[in-house]
Parts: sequence; C-alpha cells; structure tokens
Amino acid sequence: MAAGPNGARRRIRRSSRGPERGLAEKPDSWAAHAGRRPEWTQNREGTGGIVNPPVWRASTILYPDIASMDAANGLQDETLFYGRKGTPTTWALREALTGLEPGAAGTMLYPSGVAAIAGAILSVVKPGDHILLPDSAYDPTSLFGQGMLKRLNVEAQPYDPLIGAGITQLFRPETALVLLESPGSLTFEVQDVPAIAAAAKAAGIPTLLDNTWAASHFFKGIAAGCDMVVQALTKYVGGHSDLIMGSVSATAAYFPRLRNTAWQLGQCVSGDEAALALRGFRTLPMRMARHQQSALTVAHWLKAHPLVDRVLHPAFPDCPGHEIWKRDFSGSSGLFGVVLNIGSRADAPRFFDQLQQFGIGFSWGGFESIAIPTSPEKIRRLNSFTPSGLSLRLSIGLEDPDDLIADLSAALDRLRSME
Ligand SMILES: Cc1ncc(COP(=O)(O)O)c(C=O)c1O
Repeated sequence: MAAGPNGARRRIRRSSRGPERGLAEKPDSWAAHAGRRPEWTQNREGTGGIVNPPVWRASTILYPDIASMDAANGLQDETLFYGRKGTPTTWALREALTGLEPGAAGTMLYPSGVAAIAGAILSVVKPGDHILLPDSAYDPTSLFGQGMLKRLNVEAQPYDPLIGAGITQLFRPETALVLLESPGSLTFEVQDVPAIAAAAKAAGIPTLLDNTWAASHFFKGIAAGCDMVVQALTKYVGGHSDLIMGSVSATAAYFPRLRNTAWQLGQCVSGDEAALALRGFRTLPMRMARHQQSALTVAHWLKAHPLVDRVLHPAFPDCPGHEIWKRDFSGSSGLFGVVLNIGSRADAPRFFDQLQQFGIGFSWGGFESIAIPTSPEKIRRLNSFTPSGLSLRLSIGLEDPDDLIADLSAALDRLRSME
C-alpha cells in the first residue's frame, strides 16, 4: 500500500498479474503492463515500486547457508538458482512474450532467432525421424535441416508452402514435426496455417511456426493451432537493430520438453539484453502500425512504377495466399519483396550503392529502413522462382515514406539510365 494524495494508503496497481491478464486487455494496454509483476518491481512492503523490472546481472546466486543451498531445486522455473536459469528480468520478458501468443503456457529465450528455431526442433526430434519444412523457409532454417539434422539422422523434407491440408499426403509414421513460416522468406507466400496445423494435429504431429514477420502481433500462431511459435526478437520486438535474440512460446503439452531442451543445451540470455527486448516490447503495437502504414504506401507506389514487375506483399491480391492473409491476419508488417522488369543481380550496385535513406545490410524490423538484393531462385529446392529483373527486399522503417519513395525513385532512375 502507498500513501495517496490525501494521505490515504493506496495499492500500487500498474503491474502485471501474469500472462492471463493479456487476454482481458487490448494489445496496447497489454504491451504497457506485461511482465511488470509486483514481486519483480516493488519493494518488500508493497509501498513503492519502479516501472520496469530492474536489470539483474547474475551468474552466482548466493545462499545464506548450506541448508538453503541443499534445498534449492535447480529444476524449478522462476526461482533464483544459478544465473543460467534466469532472473526476474528474463522471467518478465518470457511472461510478456507468452502473453503475445494466447494459449501459450510459457516461453523460452535464446541468444538468436536461429538458436530458437534449432532449440524448438531439437525438443521434438530423435534419430530416424522425418520433419517437413516449407520450401520458402528462412535459409538458415533449411540449412539446419540439411546440416546438423542430417548428421543426427533426421531427414528434413521441403514442401510447397501453399500445400494447405494436402500436407497430410507427406506424413510418414516417423514424421516428428511440421515447420511453418508465413509469409515465406523472400517470396512472401502466405500459408494456410490453421489447415496445416489441424492436419498435423489429427496425425499427432507437432507444429512449429516462425511468426517473426507478424511479430505475434498481426497473427496469433498458437491460437491458430500451432504447438510452438518462434520469434526472432532481433527484428520487431527488439526494433532498434541493437539486439540479437530469439524466443519460442509453446502450449502446455510442448512447453515442458521445450524448456528441458533449452536448459540441457545451456540456452540463456543476459539481463541487460532482456531489458532491451522489454523496452522494445512496450512500443511494439505502435511501431507495427507505423511499419504497416508506411510499407503499404511505399509498396503501392512501387506497384504503379513502370520498372516494377511484381510487388511481393501479402496485402496485395496477386500475392500467393493473399486470401488466407485476409482471413487470418489483422495486418501486415514492414517487410516485402519487389521484382523489377529491368536489370539483374549484376546491376545491384547501380541501384543500391547511392541510396540515402535505406541502409544496405542483413536483418530487418528496425526503426531504420534496409534494402538488399535477393536471389530466391538460388535457395529454393521445389518451386522455381524466375525473376524478370533485379529482385530486392525492403524493410520499411519509421522514416517519412515520402523520403523513402524519393530515394527509391532516384535508384530506379539510375537503373533506367543504363538502358
Ligand atoms: C524469418 C526469420 N526467422 C528467423 C531469423 C533469425 O533471426 P536471428 O538473426 O536472430 O538469428 C530471421 C533473420 O533474418 C528471419 O528472417
């Protein structure tokens, strides 16, 4: 209780009571409150508190005596045991992320999005198993299948991302996991996640969705029937291009094995980085709204440009899976592809090198716009992608879209001038 303006004692209320609170609130309110439990933010008497869970830096946890040390149970979650098992800072972030995926029982954190994908896959496979992954998966996800999983005698088979309920035909007795990524990396096909998840569930096979594009904001993967949902927090949750981190949220049926695998692999993140991710989390809904709006403005401008052959954006009717996007998503983020009808990969320097607003670099989801040339045809194993000209991917940041359009317009003029 705290003293109010009239001297009366009053409870300090602005703090999270747990993941269930997310269901009762609108996303902006949840983002403001998530993970701010009283026991992580307030003094022992409950008479005062701080807004943010503090940054705990820890390796050793000190015990008052040997009896307490002997009584400590390293297998119990959310108790101070040893730094690798987390602190209130990391627990607060886990709780906030669990709230982003209604139906999830818990979330684990990893030092990158790739580590999160690997950790989730390793939580369900064993030698001799078979897994299915979309041909449009993020390249390092496919490479994990072709590399480490192969060494562990787990076969990773690519499937057509637009297969929908037809995925059933690919199931084998030893199929242990179906991966999904919607929309797909570089080509942005939208998958029928509910149909694939339902088919897998009927066959007793777990599903793992990479939900990074929608940031678990515009699409809720667990509610759509998936068992585990990955986010590269590096992208929109971090949002400021200064953090590499990943998470997996899972249902009650899959969370215990996910957590045990993460613990056995020694996966953890620092308190400093968890606090940075929580800071990004607070503004996620507003940033996503702005990313959406600006990306649509830029994409529509590009679509009307004579040098543009295709805009690969789920909100556009010619994007494969657009009807599914309309049915299942509440919006679109800032990442999309463009295929020009001029130039080729060899002409990329002419287009990219003099960009003023866009940086050239990997990753996406930050406040600043990024542009890269892409070659999806080099990594696809099933569907051939045949670009008519130079193909690129844009991550639209928080700049004024007029400036971004002017930058792209000048770049297209540079390409045209080589005709
Ligand atoms: C769709 C998708 N998933 C996962 C990742 C991996 O994230 P990280 O860079 O944090 O390993 C990326 C990174 O670009 C991505 O685009």
